[in-house]
Amino acid sequence: MKDEEKKPTNGSSRRGMSRRKFLRGVGVGSSVLSTGLLGGPLLPEAEAQGSAARAVGPTAVPIELTINGQRRSLRLEPRVTLLEALRDHLEMTGAKRVCDRSSCGACTVILNDMAVYSCSVLAIEAQGKNIQTVEGLARGSELHPVQSAFVEHDGQQCGFCTPGFVMAVKAFLDKHPNPTPEQMRVGLGGNLCRCSSYEGIRKAVMEAARRLPAGRNRDAPGGRPNA
Ligand code: FES
Ligand code: FES
Repeated sequence: MKDEEKKPTNGSSRRGMSRRKFLRGVGVGSSVLSTGLLGGPLLPEAEAQGSAARAVGPTAVPIELTINGQRRSLRLEPRVTLLEALRDHLEMTGAKRVCDRSSCGACTVILNDMAVYSCSVLAIEAQGKNIQTVEGLARGSELHPVQSAFVEHDGQQCGFCTPGFVMAVKAFLDKHPNPTPEQMRVGLGGNLCRCSSYEGIRKAVMEAARRLPAGRNRDAPGGRPNA
């Protein structure tokens, strides 16, 4: 289950095509833009308006990412995905690598308020964007309402899909504070649970929606407005 914006990445037209082939096929500069994952260009304005593209790589280049409000400086080859940057270079292993090809949602993070598959976003293209990962949701020992709702409603079994689901649900509820069951089914359709914990997940989503009333700061644990 997942946001409508992510649905094209699950489309049957690309089934059978590996993520790497897909990225190679559309070119680095337009890889994510073309997927519809992000709902907007990741490229700098000038590039998006047709200025000459600047070649980078293939060796490592400086990359700055803003993750959960913190600036992180890295040197990465341009082919490195955001998921690889998080897991293999920053030791942030909340986002999971499962299919590695835009099919399951286990790697979901939020990029500028949009849920995306981090296995299909290049790290270099996530520069200048606000990246939220599951590591940034809790405040100390206080879980975000989406996280606590998953715990209380048994929204997981093995838990491997859970961080991706939690991020997808957060992005979804930020846009749909009072979802109908149909909106939830469609909006979260880009995440899969191999343990089939969907009943608990559905209950957790509705419970989290109740705990995150519209108009409050939905990033704050407990749905509290920031001081
Ligand atoms: S690991 Fe990214 S969608 Fe499955
Ligand atoms: S809880 Fe095991 S894959 Fe979802």
